[in-house]
Amino acid sequence: MTILGIETSCDETAAAVVRDGRDVLSSIVYSQVPLHQPYGGVVPEIASRSHVEKLPGVIAQALADAHVEWAGIDAIAVTYGPGLASSLLVGLSAAKGLSLRLKKPLIGINHIEAHIHSVFLDPAAPSPAETLPLLALVVSGGHSCLVEVPQLGVYRVIGQTLDDAAGEAFDKAAQLLKLGYPGGPAIDRAAKLALRCDGSAFPQGRVRAGHALVSGDLRAELCVSFSGLKTALMYQLRQQPATDADAVNALAASYQEAIVSTLADRCDRALKHSRYAALAVGGGVSLNARLRERLQEVATRRHTRLLLAKPKYCGDNAAMIAGLAGIGCGVRDNALALDVVPSLTLGAT
Ligand code: KG4
Ligand code: ZN
Repeated sequence: MTILGIETSCDETAAAVVRDGRDVLSSIVYSQVPLHQPYGGVVPEIASRSHVEKLPGVIAQALADAHVEWAGIDAIAVTYGPGLASSLLVGLSAAKGLSLRLKKPLIGINHIEAHIHSVFLDPAAPSPAETLPLLALVVSGGHSCLVEVPQLGVYRVIGQTLDDAAGEAFDKAAQLLKLGYPGGPAIDRAAKLALRCDGSAFPQGRVRAGHALVSGDLRAELCVSFSGLKTALMYQLRQQPATDADAVNALAASYQEAIVSTLADRCDRALKHSRYAALAVGGGVSLNARLRERLQEVATRRHTRLLLAKPKYCGDNAAMIAGLAGIGCGVRDNALALDVVPSLTLGAT
């Protein structure tokens, strides 16, 4: 199966051609970061307008780079949630149009499930079937969750953030530290330059969820709350403004350590209690150098294989969308009747 994937759930306009779920023939990502930078965050209206403008060219480029004609495409896969409604609509409408015009099946894909599949886009990675049962950590600007995958296409969210996503926590801190947008890479860079890192500077975000707050498969000890961290940083800066680069870098390193050690701790707890064949990590925050290091330590201690997505597939991309569709996942029945679902949950497909 050669599948064209389309992804427009947030601020990246992306298209890719993937064969049999893992062989990426092309992957084009047009990043809107410069458009949103002046506002310090994604502006939905600007995002959807830019998707409308860029998507046709991005799709054409994906086909050209893959050296595939329309006749060589077997199906169209598209993200239908979660994400920004107005952004999702652009991709879904385009995919429906192509599906009808070309008489090719349409496959609706859940964006978070696709982030998990991104680790399999590396030819060196084992096949998805070999890694079951899988533990997956998805950490991005909009989501932070720990997911159990007992079988292909079956997802159980066993831990998640109760408020801010990990990427959001990085972005908000970077704003407070005047490091610019997007915040994650800026904090990552500043932390690397830090001469010191005070691990006790911030409460570790290890807020144990009250039992009243969790339900279903969620386990309180695997949940996390990041919102207190940025408030702690805000008060810290009010009391003692960071006046030079050394002070900013030290704060960035300490703040990053609080987020990273909390995520590593949740993975460690999950791996301690159950056996998993592998730990897969996807989403923009998985680019964080310190997080990669800490998760490798956890995986080694728990004798579990760590699967990290290639850097180009950590953030939003369409190869993960076409890839997941290529292993038989996604909504296939009556997909032309799909609507966007901005708050689509995992495993709802
Ligand atoms: O997966 P993604 O591209 O988009 C969403 O689905 O949200 O993730 C974007 C998020 C942003 O919050 C960004 O600050 C964060 O990933 N990020 C990082 C790093 N690179 C990107 N966070 C920490 N360290 C990084 N190196
Ligand atoms: Zn994403």
